[in-house]
Amino acid sequence: MEPIAAVLVASDSRSSKARAEHSGPAAQDALEALGIGVVEVAVIPDEVDLISQQLNKWAETEGIYLILTSGGTGLSPRDVTPEATRSVIEKEVPGIPELLRAKSLAITPHAALSRGIAGVINNTLIINLPGSPKAVRESISFLAPLLPHALETVAGRAVECAG
Ligand code: MTE
Repeated sequence: MEPIAAVLVASDSRSSKARAEHSGPAAQDALEALGIGVVEVAVIPDEVDLISQQLNKWAETEGIYLILTSGGTGLSPRDVTPEATRSVIEKEVPGIPELLRAKSLAITPHAALSRGIAGVINNTLIINLPGSPKAVRESISFLAPLLPHALETVAGRAVECAG
């Protein structure tokens, strides 16, 4: 299996180019360093419908086993990425955000402010990450030990857990 990912950046300001966008490239670089190719990076406004449409489109695309989102997980009224993700997933995977928040809390107490979730739809695992490039890099480093087995499993290639 060639593990392939897509990255969705949810941000009003960065989708309108009012602010430079560094989180998508940070996610792409970190994933590629793990041997996970990135087919597409999209920057989308903080709108539930637009985010869920993009997630559904990628989940229906053959070969995309992982979608990382960045941003829109906080407490501001425009932060809606977890709601959009919850509207499309079939199974929630609570252990992944539990891991991310537990590890991130050792770095910053603000980690408790990220409401990110994770879940599976079709053969695709969706994981919400916070918006800053720093948080993206840290989060992917925490995910690195579990991503290969998680992607083998969602792709239906692994039936047994090696431990
Ligand atoms: N997690 C890690 N690992 N590193 C960080 O710097 N920033 C936090 C948190 N999680 C952070 C982190 C901050 S400041 C916020 S406000 C929340 O994620 C939500 O971020 P978001 O609204 O950009 O999604």
